[in-house]
Amino acid sequence: MTTWTEVDDYFTRLFPHDDVLAAAHESSHHTTLPGADVTPHQGALLAMLARVLGATRVLEFGTLAGYSTIWLARAVGPAGHVDTLEIDATNAEISRRNLVAADVAARVDIHLGPAAATSQRLIDDGVEPYDLVFIDADKPNNPHYLAASLRLTRSGGLIIIDNVVRSGAVTDPDDASPAVLGVRRVIDEIVDAGLEATAIQTVGSKGWDGFAIIRVP
Ligand code: SAH
Ligand code: DHB
Ligand code: MG
Repeated sequence: MTTWTEVDDYFTRLFPHDDVLAAAHESSHHTTLPGADVTPHQGALLAMLARVLGATRVLEFGTLAGYSTIWLARAVGPAGHVDTLEIDATNAEISRRNLVAADVAARVDIHLGPAAATSQRLIDDGVEPYDLVFIDADKPNNPHYLAASLRLTRSGGLIIIDNVVRSGAVTDPDDASPAVLGVRRVIDEIVDAGLEATAIQTVGSKGWDGFAIIRVP
């Protein structure tokens, strides 16, 4: 029996990601969350959704080494813009270097600080609406980030939440960790608000996890 990882690697060989992305992924091992970046095919999915939407404005919660940021920045094109929110100064500096190496730094703003405060500031500043939001920061704050994202995203735009499966922890009755509670609460809020949404489980080089995807009314 082959494994998820072997199959993921097979597709990665067929649809290769370039040296800049590979280096950004490698550099995640110098961040606070080594290897927590999305996998190559998850990054490609984010970029494809952004392109299908014709996205020119993207907001990201959680930059890490800028791996997903590079995918999204490429997807919005040279005239597009990505705002990415990161609390850790070392991660922000590593991602800045990776964005420069990817030649997309001019279209990305890395906002250093807690994402709750930064996203509130974006709301207060009345920024232009985003076409796509990727929520991938501290999981206990997911409900807060969804509420902010709903205020910041245009009608018909997408909000994508990473790590909603966590090796099945989301349905484990014995798991009441803050991260899992943050996932369950945000899913409950999506349901309570009657939002058009789905959740997709993914397996691969990062194990078993998944995305929730919401289409903004
Ligand atoms: N989106 C990245 C991975 C992000 S990992 C990728 O796929 O490549 C989660 C990131 O969220 C980490 O860099 C972590 O420092 C950041 N983070 C954690 N808590 C945060 C907070 N309160 N505000 C902003 N960023 C936060
Ligand atoms: C963690 C965070 C992530 O965003 C991720 O994709 C994987 C792991 C973490 O906090 O451990
Ligand atoms: Mg994640």
